[in-house]
Amino acid sequence: MEARQRGGTVALEGLEELGEPQYKGAEAYVYIVEWLGKKAVLKLRVPKTYRHYLLDKRLRWRRTINEARTVLAALELGVNAPAIYYVNPVAGVIVMEYIDAPSLYEIIEAKPEAAKEYARRLGEAVGILHETGISHGDLTTSNVLVKDGEVYLIDFGLASLKSSEREQAVDVHLYMRSLESTHPEHVDSLLEAFLEGYSSTRGSSWTEKIMQLVREIRLMGRYREERRTAWRQEE
Ligand SMILES: Nc1ncnc2c1ncn2[C@@H]1O[C@H](COP(=O)(O)OP(=O)(O)O)[C@@H](O)[C@H]1O
Ligand SMILES: [Mg+2]
Repeated sequence: MEARQRGGTVALEGLEELGEPQYKGAEAYVYIVEWLGKKAVLKLRVPKTYRHYLLDKRLRWRRTINEARTVLAALELGVNAPAIYYVNPVAGVIVMEYIDAPSLYEIIEAKPEAAKEYARRLGEAVGILHETGISHGDLTTSNVLVKDGEVYLIDFGLASLKSSEREQAVDVHLYMRSLESTHPEHVDSLLEAFLEGYSSTRGSSWTEKIMQLVREIRLMGRYREERRTAWRQEE
């Protein structure tokens, strides 16, 4: 596979052969591929024609690198995430380990009681990331996979290696919001379990500090405005 410049746009040789994506998101397509004999996921950040092509190129480049970098940092901390096999920021491509597992979202749907333990483990993992300054940026229950009783984090495109306390609070807020919008009846128990894990790795005083910020964000409804501003600045 090779990335090639072609009049300002980038083509990835062999991409046509990938066929239909397994998943088509707003930002990325996900293909299941074979990589050096292993089942793998190829995540392609697709060009957006409504953006100026140079800006688009830079944005895809940045998010691709960002995702690979923060996944590697997470793995180094012992937080489960897909192993990275290949990165091509020019083409906006990451090839990574295929985690053959349901998402936390699906587990809450099917076995809400079992989900508590995974919510606790997720809290532990996020506590470790935050303690080192890493925020995830899109912490929803769909971006958490559960395999052999272990939680794996995916989708690090909006993660930050040097996050502010507020960005960390946004992680917790997004987790809560994804529960509220999809599984309102389990918010209390799955938040409690998450915070139990979180405070076990981050300590109770930091947990309290972050939760204070979460309350502020939610009270003022400022989160929405902040995200909008952040995206506007980028795009
Ligand atoms: N490493 C992986 N292993 C298994 N499935 C994955 C993996 N990465 C992504 N997926 C699947 O593809 C979907 C979209 O990928 P994701 O990285 O979350 O992109 P998006 O930013 O579009 O949400 C995920 O919700 C998951 O179902
Ligand atoms: Mg996702």
